[in-house]
Amino acid sequence: MTSPLPQQIIESQRQDWNRVAGGWEKWDRFFDEQMAFLNHRLVADARLRSGMRVLDLGSGTGYPALLAAQTVGSAGSVVGIDLAEQMLEAARRKTAALGLSNMTFRTGDVTNLPFEAASFDAVTTRFCLMFLPEIPKAVAEIARVLKPNTWVSAAVWSAPEKNPYLKIPIDVIRQFIELPPPDPTAPGIFRLAKPGELAGMLQQTGFFDITEQEFHGDVRFTAGDEYFSSLMDIAAPIQNLWAKLVPVQQTEARQRIIDTAEQYKKGASIALPIAVRMVAARKPG
Ligand SMILES: C[S@@+](CC[C@H](N)C(=O)[O-])C[C@H]1O[C@@H](n2cnc3c(N)ncnc32)[C@H](O)[C@@H]1O
Repeated sequence: MTSPLPQQIIESQRQDWNRVAGGWEKWDRFFDEQMAFLNHRLVADARLRSGMRVLDLGSGTGYPALLAAQTVGSAGSVVGIDLAEQMLEAARRKTAALGLSNMTFRTGDVTNLPFEAASFDAVTTRFCLMFLPEIPKAVAEIARVLKPNTWVSAAVWSAPEKNPYLKIPIDVIRQFIELPPPDPTAPGIFRLAKPGELAGMLQQTGFFDITEQEFHGDVRFTAGDEYFSSLMDIAAPIQNLWAKLVPVQQTEARQRIIDTAEQYKKGASIALPIAVRMVAARKPG
């Protein structure tokens, strides 16, 4: 079987994320409460401060772009770029609700940034880079648009074994259908899970002061059903696997996913572990 071309991957990413934009908006408050700590970490790693001009890659519905805009204040500005116009529409509604006038979102591809060289004081990105067919090209673009001596901070998912939050449904789906063994070089949720992978690309592009940490946390749910519905509404790659099951398999799989999640019950809530690889690096000055 021939591998899809980069442009085909980008097009299916666009369709996938546009399809789940309604789910992201529906669960926005919940995921903001659950995962805001990652945005704060990204903002800190990128050394954001008042007056900066910041670029956020693959902003989706606005994470961490909106926190970045609040951090740089009215003297600064943030541009968020994403393939999926419908995700950005939700991000724009949130921008208006927050009354932020220094935040703009535009559609575009992270591997081909529509910005001048040395035009940003920082770049942030959460859960986007692993979906790109040509990650080194995006890293080169980040280096191009950053001013000398400024920072990029990135969050990507670490290994599946450390992310029951994402792994549970994938394992259950595998109980029903044969899925090809994961290709570690194909774009997807765990493409940058390996320690040193993204850091190595940054180093090869000339970045320095590189730090990498596997950051552990959890996402908490009041019930297994809340976990199942929220994840299935937003996780486009898992939805794609789910669609391979016939309805009777989906009914059984849903119950198994909920039962497995409930094994992580701690007190009143289900706490599903997550492990996120936080990588930061500085462009030479
Ligand atoms: C999992 S969502 C993350 C959204 C947001 N950063 C967050 O953490 O909530 C991944 C986002 O990356 C975007 N994306 C994927 N490939 C992209 C590309 N080549 N260029 C721009 N955005 C891309 C998708 O459209 C999607 O909105």
